[in-house]
Amino acid sequence: MSSFDPVMAELDPYCNAIVRRLPLTTREQREEGFRAAGYNPFRLPARLVTIDGLSDSGTGALSTEQRAASARADERYASSESWDRFAAALRSMSRFEHIIPTTQGRTAESVVFSTMLKPGQFSVSNTHFDTTSANVQLAGGTAVNLPCPEFADLDSDEPFKGNIDVAALEQLLAGPDGHRVGIVLMTITNNGGGGQPVSIANLRATREVCRRYGVPMFLDAARFAENAWLVTRREAEFAAATPREVAGIEFDLADGFVISLKKDSMSPGGGAIGVRDPQLAGALRAKVIATAGFSTYGGMTGETLEEAARGIEESVDPAYLYARERAAQLLADVAQEAGVDSIRPAGLHAIYLNAGRLMRHIPQARFPGHSLAAALYLEGGVRTSELGSLYLGELDDEFRMVKPAPFELVRVALPRRVYTENHLRYIGTVLARIAKEPERWPGYRVVSAPPTLRHFEGWYDQVRD
Ligand SMILES: Cc1ncc(COP(=O)(O)O)c(C=O)c1O
Repeated sequence: MSSFDPVMAELDPYCNAIVRRLPLTTREQREEGFRAAGYNPFRLPARLVTIDGLSDSGTGALSTEQRAASARADERYASSESWDRFAAALRSMSRFEHIIPTTQGRTAESVVFSTMLKPGQFSVSNTHFDTTSANVQLAGGTAVNLPCPEFADLDSDEPFKGNIDVAALEQLLAGPDGHRVGIVLMTITNNGGGGQPVSIANLRATREVCRRYGVPMFLDAARFAENAWLVTRREAEFAAATPREVAGIEFDLADGFVISLKKDSMSPGGGAIGVRDPQLAGALRAKVIATAGFSTYGGMTGETLEEAARGIEESVDPAYLYARERAAQLLADVAQEAGVDSIRPAGLHAIYLNAGRLMRHIPQARFPGHSLAAALYLEGGVRTSELGSLYLGELDDEFRMVKPAPFELVRVALPRRVYTENHLRYIGTVLARIAKEPERWPGYRVVSAPPTLRHFEGWYDQVRD
């Protein structure tokens, strides 16, 4: 912060260089489109979406520098110049020697878990992202989430609610199932845990426990730069550090990492694995070659390698990260003014609306989070996603509720460098219209859905009972 000229401190450090026309729709079009999509936002055609808060993944606006870099993409098959630039950027940021490229984050997860986890073993995390726990299961393992107790209070201003519960981790490792823990995975920032950051103190304590029990500690580093920024803002020891310096410390503490390059690295695609052990690196490379592509492109085009290389550099720019903090805070503030609470304190990549509190008239078996997400779309063309019982609850074969999720949330994701203050204020206006009379919005039932990752593929219908 101290490096900003005070006159310029509050200025967003970019402007539009190319724009996309937003579709402006009518209520009838939205109702018809959403019904035809089985009331599932993932199936909704993007041409009917005005403000897209479904995901911050691969949705960032490319910078002119990224566009320029992609123009010199080298598409030669092996050891291309684009690979050299990509590997140099990720090596310089992470200080890891062995970098293995993949198509995206979940490919990196699949390769790591199928290589490192034996059937019956546990992967323990502050919270696994959904594809991450799916990949643990596909490798025959069990995903164990140990979020810190502070996360349970959505309204408190605890600065690091993304932390792992270190005492619970140690208890697990010291107990009868301790030998089954094959890996500890720290998700920074904690997407499944409200986008909350993880402190360096927590990473250090986790690293120490892992060292004592001989378990490798990996990072899910998709949002390493946003986590680093929040550390500089909330952890006193790092108040004078740059986000890049903190990112270096995050990576230094780990034995390895998986990364989706579609988040902080602002690339439309791509992922990677980093490890220190050359033998492990060899095994991972062999699997990437068999499943994704040669070990100097891993399924990425030269253009993606170039855009990611440049994006990695841009991700730790303090002026950009501060603008992102202001955007998330503004969205949380306008939601609050509209009468809708969100998880406090706001993270950076999304805000998580407390739908359970707003849609009190809808029982958990009728998915209040989905009701709010649907209302945001129907009222104002704003696409978001539910993170509540529809996504995380346990349902029986007839889709009746067995065990609801602990919270009924709606995630409004913030694509990087895409939406202006005007767009964020518009979301506030839509929320205010919903919050004025929440009772007019119905609940939902599941008509059909696959047994895993239900929220992506399900068909739903409105219920007013
Ligand atoms: C924390 C986290 N890990 C992993 C992934 C998976 O990355 P990808 O979408 O590149 O496969 C995501 C995607 O949203 C994520 O948020």
